[in-house]
Order: sequence, then C-alpha cells, then structure tokens
Amino acid sequence: MHKLDTRPKMVLIKEVVRENEQVTTLVLDASVGAEPGQFVNVWIPSLNEKPFSVAMDDGKEMRLSVAAVGPFSNALCDKKVGEKIGVRGPFGTKFKFEEGEHLALLAGGYGAAPLYFLASEAAKKGCTVEFIVGARSKGFLLNVEKARELGVNVHVATDDGSEGSKGYNTEVLAKILDEGGIDCVYTVGPEVMMYKAAQMAKEKGVRAQISVERYMKCGMGLCGNCCLDGEGAPTCVKGPVMDLEKVLDSPEFGHYHRDQLGNKHNF
Ligand SMILES: Cc1cc2nc3c(=O)[nH]c(=O)nc-3n(C[C@H](O)[C@H](O)[C@H](O)COP(=O)(O)OP(=O)(O)OC[C@H]3O[C@@H](n4cnc5c(N)ncnc54)[C@H](O)[C@@H]3O)c2cc1C
Ligand code: FES
Repeated sequence: MHKLDTRPKMVLIKEVVRENEQVTTLVLDASVGAEPGQFVNVWIPSLNEKPFSVAMDDGKEMRLSVAAVGPFSNALCDKKVGEKIGVRGPFGTKFKFEEGEHLALLAGGYGAAPLYFLASEAAKKGCTVEFIVGARSKGFLLNVEKARELGVNVHVATDDGSEGSKGYNTEVLAKILDEGGIDCVYTVGPEVMMYKAAQMAKEKGVRAQISVERYMKCGMGLCGNCCLDGEGAPTCVKGPVMDLEKVLDSPEFGHYHRDQLGNKHNF
C-alpha cells in the first residue's frame, strides 16, 4: 500500500496513445498504487491542477485517459513522450465488488477508461462483466477492442448507429437489467446518463455505484469546493464512487453542479 503523499510528484510520460477523436492516453513511468474508481490530481506548472481518474495502475506504470475539451485537457493531450507532469494521489473511494459477481458497467465518454480498469480487475476475480459503452459515433468509442480482448461481454451503442446498436447505452442497460441476475451496476460518464442508470437500478432493486464528478481543488476534504448539496459530502473523499442511495438522496445529483466559484449550472 502506497502512503498518500500530498505533494505533487513530477513523473515522466513514457508513451502517448491517441485513442480516438477526443481521448489521448498518457502512460506514466510511475505508480501511485491506485485501485479502480480512484483519481489523481494532475498538475501542469503555471497552468492548473485538475483531477483525472486512473485508467490503469499495475504497480509499475499508470495510465490516464484524457478527453480534450478545454484549456487544461488540451494541454495534457498535447504532452510529448519525455515530458513530465505533476501527480498527487491516489484520492477518493474505489469501486467495490465480490468474487464471482455479475456486474454491469455503463460507460460514456472517457468513463470507459476507469471502467476498463474495473473490468480487468473484476475479470481476474472470476466476475462476469457486461461492459456497455456508448458514444455519439464510432470515432468516439473508447476501450471497446481492449475490453473484448479481456474476454468480457461487450455491448456498444452509438447515437448515430455507426457501431453497435443505434441509440443510448442506457437502453442496452435496461435490457440487461430486464434479463435479471445483475448484482451491481457501475457507471462513469455524463451525469444525465448516470442519473438515469441510478434510477433504473433503484427500480429493479439492484445496487449501483456511481462516479460523481464535481469541481475539485484540494482532493483531500479541506476546501469544500466539491461538496454535494444535501448531506454536503465532499465528493473527493466520500466519492467519487458513491452508492446509489447517497446520490439519489442529493437534490443536486442529476440536476445541477457548481463551478470553481460555487455558481450553479443546470445539466
Ligand atoms: C473525479 C474526477 C475524475 C475525472 N476524470 C477524468 C478523466 O479520467 N478524463 C478526463 O478527460 N477528465 C476527467 N475529469 C475532468 C477533468 O478534471 C477536467 O474537468 C476536464 O479535463 C476539463 O478541464 P479543462 O480545463 O480542459 O476544460 P474546462 O474549461 O473545465 O471545460 C471546457 C468546456 O468543456 C466542458 N466540458 C468539461 N468536461 C467535459 C466533458 N467530459 N465532455 C464534454 N464537455 C466537457 C465544460 O463544461 C466547458 O464548457 C475528471 C473530473 C473529476 C472530478
Ligand atoms: S476538492 Fe477540496 S474538499 Fe473536495
């Protein structure tokens, strides 16, 4: 078990993989001993520090899959082999599962990165995994081939039908839940998708673990920036992975989030 170090450690980028039209994976020559669901804070000196889910950590190297959507993520995606970035962590809660369970993993966007990490660990423990990936079109799918190579059951849905079934990945989840036998649903991606999945799991009486993303700064429960209205839990410590009951109890989840200044924005 690695001791939590609260100072950023500068780590070498040993490989850069262009995954699809939006996501780039940085392979780092370091491990923080992260488990699926946890995140690290990534620091680019004189730019900013932001949280990223760990996409893989095998004790020697670590992977982060970054969607280029704004200034920080674009700067990360532009990094080259041989450059260094600052990393703090691991932070937050992990996905929990028991040996031999039947799990449904629902991923949207870069959510397929931490869920692939979960799928690979769960498969090693004899779990049956339904890996459900959604994207607006084929060019935005992530980790589909890698998941097939793991031997898990892969289901693809695209908005335009360019790969897999046409429509939302939540429709695929609905069918799988209707068939029965799922022990737990795990979801990472756009909050509207995760909210729907949480409601569907609740209706079926199935457990669910949701990765809640809020604007994070300290990552350690100190600044209060990432608290979820309701119970007021700091999602950097009590999350990002939270149980269904906790997220649906919050008046905030699925409806709005706050920016770095605390202003509300509706989804
Ligand atoms: C616990 C946690 C884990 C995270 N893990 C990852 C991860 O593994 N990979 C990753 O890429 N990011 C991850 N993020 C998000 C990341 O921390 C940044 O918020 C993100 O990279 C955007 O930062 P930015 O400065 O580039 O863009 P910003 O200036 O913050 O955003 C630019 C614009 O893009 C929009 N936007 C932000 N995120 C998205 C999105 N995902 N899709 C579409 N539009 C978006 C914003 O609303 C804004 O309009 C995670 C966040 C949290 C809290
Ligand atoms: S990021 Fe500071 S309390 Fe969560």
